[in-house]
Parts: sequence; C-alpha cells; structure tokens
Amino acid sequence: MESKKTLGLALILQLLQLFLVSGSLHRSQFPDSFLFGTATSAYQIEGAWLEGNKSLTIWDVFSHLPGKITDGSNGDVADDHYHRYLEDVKMMHSLGINAYRFSISWSRILPRGRFGGINTEGVEFYNNIINALLSKGIQPVVTICHFDLPQELQDRYGAWLSSEIQEDFGYFAEVCFKEFGDRVKYWITINEPNLILKFGYVTGGYPPARCSQPFGNCTSGDSTREPYIAAHNCILSHAIAVDIYKSNYQMKQGGVIGLVLNSRWYEPLRNISDDYIAAQRALAFDLGWFLDPVILGDYPTEMREILGSKLPTFTSEDRKKLRHKIDFIGINHYTTHYVQDCIFSHCELDKYNGNALVFASGEMNGQLIGPRTPIKSMYVVPYGIEKMIMYFKERYNNTPMYITENGLGQKNSNDTSKDDMVNDTDRINFIHDYLSYVVKAMRRGADVRGYFVWSLMDSFEWLYGYTVRFGLFYVDWATLKRTPKLSAKWYQEFLAGQRMLQKADKNSKTQGFM
Ligand code: BGC
Repeated sequence: MESKKTLGLALILQLLQLFLVSGSLHRSQFPDSFLFGTATSAYQIEGAWLEGNKSLTIWDVFSHLPGKITDGSNGDVADDHYHRYLEDVKMMHSLGINAYRFSISWSRILPRGRFGGINTEGVEFYNNIINALLSKGIQPVVTICHFDLPQELQDRYGAWLSSEIQEDFGYFAEVCFKEFGDRVKYWITINEPNLILKFGYVTGGYPPARCSQPFGNCTSGDSTREPYIAAHNCILSHAIAVDIYKSNYQMKQGGVIGLVLNSRWYEPLRNISDDYIAAQRALAFDLGWFLDPVILGDYPTEMREILGSKLPTFTSEDRKKLRHKIDFIGINHYTTHYVQDCIFSHCELDKYNGNALVFASGEMNGQLIGPRTPIKSMYVVPYGIEKMIMYFKERYNNTPMYITENGLGQKNSNDTSKDDMVNDTDRINFIHDYLSYVVKAMRRGADVRGYFVWSLMDSFEWLYGYTVRFGLFYVDWATLKRTPKLSAKWYQEFLAGQRMLQKADKNSKTQGFM
C-alpha cells in the first residue's frame, strides 16, 4: 500500500517535472551539439583604428564625416577589444558559451586589398583570438566581411558597384581560409548584404551613401538600379569564396560555410489577399534577393516581374561560380513589420523596401506591431522568429539554420544611469521569449543549430553611435571597464542547465556573478 503511494507520488513528480520543462525554457530543449554564443563585429568593438598597420575602412572615413553619426562619435577606440581581447575571451568563458561569432577586419589583413601585401600583424591578432577561444573550448564562428570594406577599394573602383570586387573578395576569403581555416570550422562570407546594399545604395544612410529620390537624398546614385548591380557583385563575390572553400579547403579543413541575412519578418497589414501577396513580395525582395540565387540558382520571379532589365541576369560563367550551395543560412532576426500593398492601394512607397512596391513599418494606422525599441525600425515581436524560421525551412528545403544575431537595444542617454542599464530585465524577457519561439520552430521540424545573442558587450552601434546598448556586458566608455548585466547572469544560468521558468522580475537582483 505504502509503496503504491510512493510510486504514485514519484509519477506525479515526474509528470510535473516534464510539464515544467516543456512549459519553460531549458537548455535540454536543444541538442548538446547546439551552438550557444554571442556575436560582435570588428568595427564595432576593436578600436585601434590606426594601429597594427591597418588601413582605413569605409566606416572609419564615414563616421568621421560631420553629422553622420547621432552622437558625433566613431569607432576609433570603441571597446578597445584590440588590446583587451584576452579579458573579453575570459568574459565569454564565464558565460559558458560554446561559440563566439566575430568578424575579421579586411583592412587589418589586406590593408590595400589585392593591391598590396598581407599584413602579418593583422593575421597574428586574429590568430591570438582564435587560439584564446579554442583554449577555453569556444568555437570561433568567423564572418569574413561585416560592413567594413577597405576604403581603398571604394576609391579605386567603387567597391560593390564594380565586378572587380569579386576578385578582391575571393582573394581575401582565401587568405582567411589559408591562415585560419585549420582552426575555424564555421565561416560566414558576408554579413547582411541585403541591409548594407539598401542602406548604402537605396536610402543612402550608410557608406557609400548613394541614392536617388524618393528613397533618399544623396548627391549621386540611383536607388532603383544600383542596389541590384551591387547585389549581383556581392552574390558572385560570396559564390567565389564558397567555390574556393569547397574546392580547395573544405575537405581537408572540415568546416562549413554560409551567408547571413538581415531577416525581418513581414506580416500583412490588412486581412486581404493584396497585403498577403505584398508580404510575400517584401520577403522576396529582401531575402529571396540573395538566398534564391545562392540556394535555388536565380532571382525570385517577383523581382524579375517588377524590375525587368534593371535586375541583372546570371550568365553561364556566373552560374558556374554559383554551382556550390551554402551549408547553412545565418539568420539575424530582430523584428517584424506590417506590409501594405502599394500596387492596388494608394500608399507611399517604403524607403527601405519600396522597390517591392510596398509600404512596411512596425506601426501603421495607429497600430503598433509590438513594443518599440530605441532602434527606430525594431519592434519586439517574438512570434516573428518562428514564422521567419518556418519560411526559410519551407522555401529552402530545411537548409541548416543558425540564429546568428538576436537581441535588444537599450537607450543610452544623459537620463539613464549605469544601474538602469545593468538591470536589463527587458533584455532577459526578450531573449527568453524569442528563444521560446525558436524551440517551437524546432519542434515543427526546423533544422536550427545555433543561437547567438547580439551582443557580447555594448559597442559602437553604427548610425546610433554609443546611444544604444545591445550588450550582455555593460561597457563604461570612459574607463572601458566591462560589467556583467543581469542578462549575462541569466544567460549563464540558462547555459548551466537551470530551468528558466519565469520571466525576469525587475526587483529580483541577481547576485554573485562571476
Ligand atoms: C548588424 C549589427 C548591429 C545589429 C543591431 C545587425 O543588423 O549586423 O552590426 O549592431 O544589427 O542593430
């Protein structure tokens, strides 16, 4: 009798445990091999802009132009990671992550592109980082190019606008495979080409700041034509790098190579077919633009129908370069927007994605799609990540996926204190909720293999300068001291296998971190 009771109790306890685990977030919901990491990029953290024989990048030059960056700042010093990388690797280790995504500054390795020699100081710097990571059991996940091209390539031939960039990028990628590929097993060719080309050649907000009306106000450019020429060169540059890796390095080095897109999800504004079709069109113009050619072999038909001859075609030579597929899709996901059709309804064309003949925004007709964040275009919409993953799963035949960036920015101003920034419960809730939707997508069969929080630490946030903080670690830019935020503690506990049952409570200060 007594033993029956005990058995019954044990069963109830087991069921309760099962319920708690499935109803909450837990490390065990992901396979052991799942990569959990943090991400950064060279220009945003390294600083040392004039050290180690590095040449100027387009962001060094652009951020020094008056009026370009909100707070008039630049990445000259940034987080001084160049000198503090050992401390930063220790910080990562304390989190318990098993992977770290960072980018290589092209200008540190090849200050003059293919027109000069390899800079051994640059090579040594990245060797040191890679070795330090591996000594702590952290897999390096390396982005070959994250926005910061050498200025010389911009000046010589207009960077992405010229087919010459293909040779330069291929050369740079090969130097990286040769120098680091014995230890780096995860390669990303280019970070968010869709975003850089729209900001660089449609709206003109990013270097090289080329655009035309009504999309932006620049001294030169053509927002309806140039982004497609630049993208064509970008796709072929990527393809050449993949071809080099797959033909000459992959077999002996045993790594994988992929492409990362800024993956914004689009929801129809109205429950009408025009807006459903418009949302699909927005996705094709934003993501299919790159992923269709590199996975399916050509641009999406929606793009061809609207752009006609403005969209380049792939010659048989180009198709040869595209013969290898990517091993994974890298998803940088932050937000979801509503989309309204502008073909059959009258609406103002979107600045960012207007070539798709849509208007898209996180706020329309007084409706907010989710809470606002300090980055104008980013709203908190956790379910969007599940929809985004499922879209990629269906369209690209469940190609393996990594969430290469996901995170929340905090507004940094004279009115905010260090305490406000360190007690970042909003970020904990953000990561908790987005990760829970990643789990849902995986339960629906999506092949997701990793998740990287953007970002390891507060850093130079492009046009926003230092007015937005994305880090798990707070950086005091006067002293460069790093302090773990509550979210760092939360991530550490999650990775250590604790069940994250509840969302963060503002009053529950976590203690004893590291
Ligand atoms: C970029 C990062 C950036 C982050 C937050 C992504 O688009 O890859 O460099 O800091 O968004 O805005």
